[in-house]
Amino acid sequence: MSRIVYVNGDFVPEADAKVSVFDRGFLMADGVYEVTTVVGGRLIDFAGHAARLERSLRALDMTSPMGTEALLAVHRDLVSRNGLEEGLVYLQVTRGVADRDFAYPAKGTAPTLVLFTQSLAVLERESVKRGIKVASVPDLRWARRDIKTVQLLYPSMAKMAAKAQGADDAWMVDEDGHVTEGSSNNAYIVTSAGTIVTRPLNHAILHGITRSAVLRLAAETGLGVEERPFLLAEAKVAAEAFITSASAFVTPVVEIDGTALGDGRPGAVTRRLREIYIEECLAKAV
Ligand code: PDD
Repeated sequence: MSRIVYVNGDFVPEADAKVSVFDRGFLMADGVYEVTTVVGGRLIDFAGHAARLERSLRALDMTSPMGTEALLAVHRDLVSRNGLEEGLVYLQVTRGVADRDFAYPAKGTAPTLVLFTQSLAVLERESVKRGIKVASVPDLRWARRDIKTVQLLYPSMAKMAAKAQGADDAWMVDEDGHVTEGSSNNAYIVTSAGTIVTRPLNHAILHGITRSAVLRLAAETGLGVEERPFLLAEAKVAAEAFITSASAFVTPVVEIDGTALGDGRPGAVTRRLREIYIEECLAKAV
């Protein structure tokens, strides 16, 4: 079925959804994006994604294409026009169309705004039942990973390298041997004492919207949380590990570089966190 795509104010069939070859998103990866999950036709944590979009735009001195309320209306309209029950809404904003130049175009150049939907099973997934395997790769991305830019070539390379080793995803590791994050998700371990450990927020990782909700829920549930860098070596002997992202929610990791964690099956803390996260996000979906 052909989707309806949003391009700069118009809802058009996907075959007609086009942007200029001079768009700076295409030429310079000069753009930012968000991915918001849809369950039961409703958006999960839209406010969090809208706030991070504004932050990314500000960090790059880019013009915001529209306010949060208008953006929510476009998301809802698109979900409804596509009859999307479960999946995601992808949004991209670029600095717009201009002659190729390293200098930004004049202020007032209209940003490009594109949104499309993708149907996807998010609640019931085989990867959640069995847990995923990750392989470590050096983190060779730029230093401002807190800005959600469309420069996704290295994360793609990392994922391909992991798949070539028989793993499902990559865990990227910094120069000191600490895990930064997965190719498109935040990374966590659970110690033998049951404490959840994840890297603190700074420029080294994306400030995950799911991360923020999951850490808040963990604390509310009385689970211990430590925000500190952890070594790949510590992860390999952890009791449990998991990842979070908009579409993965909380997904167990059962193997790192061929080393099984615990009994090699999804851990109890991870399963509990997934349950409480899903319960809350469905209750609050808009
Ligand atoms: N990825 N870290 C990175 C590098 C990411 O690309 C993502 C999201 C996350 C998790 O953030 P959130 O919980 O806000 O989804 C962490 C999206 C889903 C993607 O690129 O498809």
